[in-house]
Amino acid sequence: MNRIITLDEFIIKRQKDFPYASGELTGLLRDIGVAAKIVNREVNKAGLLNILGVAGSENASGEEVQKLDLYANEKLIDCLKNSGECCGVASEELEDFVPIQSVSGKTSKYVVVFDPLDGSSNIDVNVSVGTIFGIYRRQSEAEGPCQMDDFLQKGTELVAAGYVLYGTSTLLVYSTGRGVNGFTLDPTIGEFCLSHTDIQIPDRGNYYAVNQGYYLKFDVEMRRYIDYCSDMNLRLRYIGSMVSDIHRILFQGGIFLYPNTRKYPQGKLRLVYECNPLSFIVEQAGGKGITCQLERILELPVNHLHQRATIAIGSPGMVDEMKAFVERYSAAPTFNNGQ
Ligand code: AHG
Ligand code: MN
Ligand code: MN
Repeated sequence: MNRIITLDEFIIKRQKDFPYASGELTGLLRDIGVAAKIVNREVNKAGLLNILGVAGSENASGEEVQKLDLYANEKLIDCLKNSGECCGVASEELEDFVPIQSVSGKTSKYVVVFDPLDGSSNIDVNVSVGTIFGIYRRQSEAEGPCQMDDFLQKGTELVAAGYVLYGTSTLLVYSTGRGVNGFTLDPTIGEFCLSHTDIQIPDRGNYYAVNQGYYLKFDVEMRRYIDYCSDMNLRLRYIGSMVSDIHRILFQGGIFLYPNTRKYPQGKLRLVYECNPLSFIVEQAGGKGITCQLERILELPVNHLHQRATIAIGSPGMVDEMKAFVERYSAAPTFNNGQ
């Protein structure tokens, strides 16, 4: 049997690949791993504790908050506060970013953005949920507290990003810009162990993921592309947890779409907490992530923390095909009044 490589070991080994690395990013990734284990523990026994259901409040995006959203949010912030490697966090669940005071006078270089629990409406019915994170190098002076601009960086500036999937097994997938690796939590030893090395997304796949219930609310070019997916007998899979849907596509190939609708004219998903980190991972695995208006997600200017974006992400061959549909049908003249 091959020797087990734990997440900690792997991260430390990789640090040696960066000649001037100070170990801070290494520490930060390890702390996120610890937070993931704590959240995993609670998600796993959620039905036994009084932590299912809604918390009775709305988050910064005006959505209903689940108790576990808040729990995961707190645990991530606690772990990052204790780590001393992070000078601030921004979370989907918080209106504003939170500066973190330096520990024992040490100034830290990084800020972390996260969606503490993605797909949280799935929790009460025991369906997979996830955590998404992104790490940026701070732009503000190291001496003072972090600033808003530290968080409003384009996705191209991500130093690292990843996700944790609390599914049939618990997986942590991350990239520091040199490929993507996956680690499965072995509950018997409480460690994430390397299970998927250098993940590459297939050029095409048999799956498409979109909330087909909104079909009539999509623009015509998007409807045409979805019709085409159906004509091609692609299999529709939509979990309602972006992490889970993207995870399937990363391994088996396919495309995930969340276009603009009447309710969400800018798209629903959040650029900072969802679209950018997952686009970083998918691109690192050889895939593509663009908006339904065909801009590369990672290059979008970020104007505010809770900004939304439309997204088409997944296998490169399929994203290119979707792009061709949009170009073709949005260029076609529209005829009104029977003309
Ligand atoms: P969150 O639970 O963090 O608010 O994210 C839910 C997101 C995403 O994970 C999922 O793909 C999408 O919302 C589902 O939205 P619809 O129910 O509108 O399809
Ligand atoms: Mn989410
Ligand atoms: Mn969430």
